[in-house]
Amino acid sequence: MSDQTRFILNDSDLPKFWYNINADSPVPPTPVLHPGTMEPVTPDFLSVLFPMDLILQEISTEQYIEIPEEVREIYKLYRPTPLLRARRLEKALDTPAHIYYKYEGASPVGSHKLNTATAQAFYNKKAGTKALTTETGAGQWGSALALACNFFDLALEVYMVKVSYNQKPYRRIMMETYGAQVFASPTDRTNYGRALLAENPDHPGSLGIAISEAVEAAATSNGAKKYSLGSVLNHVLMHQTVIGEESLKQMDLAGEYPDVVISCVGGGSNFAGIAFPFLRENLKNGKRTRLLAVEPTAAPSLTRGVYAFDYGDTAKMAPIVKMHTLGHDFVPAAIHAGGLRYHGMAPTLCALYDAGHIEAVSVPQKTTFEAAIQFARAEGIIPAPESAHGIRAAINEAMDAKAKGEKRVILFNLSGHGNFDMAAYEAYLSGKLEDYEYPAEAVKASLEKLPQVSLS
Ligand SMILES: Cc1ncc(COP(=O)(O)O)c(C=O)c1O
Repeated sequence: MSDQTRFILNDSDLPKFWYNINADSPVPPTPVLHPGTMEPVTPDFLSVLFPMDLILQEISTEQYIEIPEEVREIYKLYRPTPLLRARRLEKALDTPAHIYYKYEGASPVGSHKLNTATAQAFYNKKAGTKALTTETGAGQWGSALALACNFFDLALEVYMVKVSYNQKPYRRIMMETYGAQVFASPTDRTNYGRALLAENPDHPGSLGIAISEAVEAAATSNGAKKYSLGSVLNHVLMHQTVIGEESLKQMDLAGEYPDVVISCVGGGSNFAGIAFPFLRENLKNGKRTRLLAVEPTAAPSLTRGVYAFDYGDTAKMAPIVKMHTLGHDFVPAAIHAGGLRYHGMAPTLCALYDAGHIEAVSVPQKTTFEAAIQFARAEGIIPAPESAHGIRAAINEAMDAKAKGEKRVILFNLSGHGNFDMAAYEAYLSGKLEDYEYPAEAVKASLEKLPQVSLS
């Protein structure tokens, strides 16, 4: 084992393929249903929103899909990203565990989201798309797609959840710097947004609502705009697998193999990105790494949601999928991890969780920030509030290893930095950050509105 801290790959180690878990998954994919007819969707329905290359990736069972050269050229700006051993954190915790983290905050926009934004912008450009619409929570996804659209000369409209729009003005300015237009959702630009504002002019918005507005804007554009989603879908999860493929090589350089791989989950893409290549090693090569997804107690879809067919968005315009859900019109509390405020979860991840291949825990906001600050003071990087959920769980694992006197190798994905999240840190440091209990009543009310699907 080396005494190195940073494990750096060469340009030539940049992955040439994305890994598709659907080729190896022991659980069959669940059907994707039309929100109106509740029958399986056709490529025609999906092609209103997405270019054909991405639709084909969505349903592909090929084990590896080649990363186009144009996408790799952009990846080369920041990939391979570094993997570090958190030696100073280990020391601060006085733990026998070895803690490693993969740092996706090294991308120009500060998170893993550019891995799929680049791919999605490329395939849209290739298909002749001129403009995209999307939603964003905390602004990480919007910033990534804004940069990718700038690189491929596409216009972009971003529907940003209003509570985050107000909490994170610098993320909005970043998107505008790259040339995108940004609107606080609910907006008066869509029928759905106008209806919500008529009921409540101060509506805080949610990811589900912002998705509805972005989908409506694309679906009613007579083909002028397509829609892009930053998580949940198979092709998005697959684009993120460059994280895990690089991590495998870097753990090899470190001379260790993780006992547990950890990351936060919002829609599931950064977790899938690091975990699926390790899951392949479990399924195919006899490895036994635990894969641990971490969600906020304010939106605990995996740990407290029901596994059922539900709409992907609040206005019921997006397809119905089988997932762990809190109900499509459930609006999570205004936690600072805006990117984790989604009512559902990637169907592929849910099926694997349901079959016991993946574990999940939920953690409250205050203890998450406590872990973020402990990490920042030991390692220097201030994590995104989303990523801090993974850090909380990694520290818990390290302390558990200490209590049991075990050497445990822990790898977590530091999905982004929190340099634009100072308002959240200020709230924590000044004692104003709140914990939110599991909103049992609101979830129960929302779950009563699940679509009645005969297939389930
Ligand atoms: C830094 C960061 N990490 C994680 C997430 C969660 O999303 P996902 O589960 O798709 O990776 C987000 C979402 O916005 C994010 O910005």
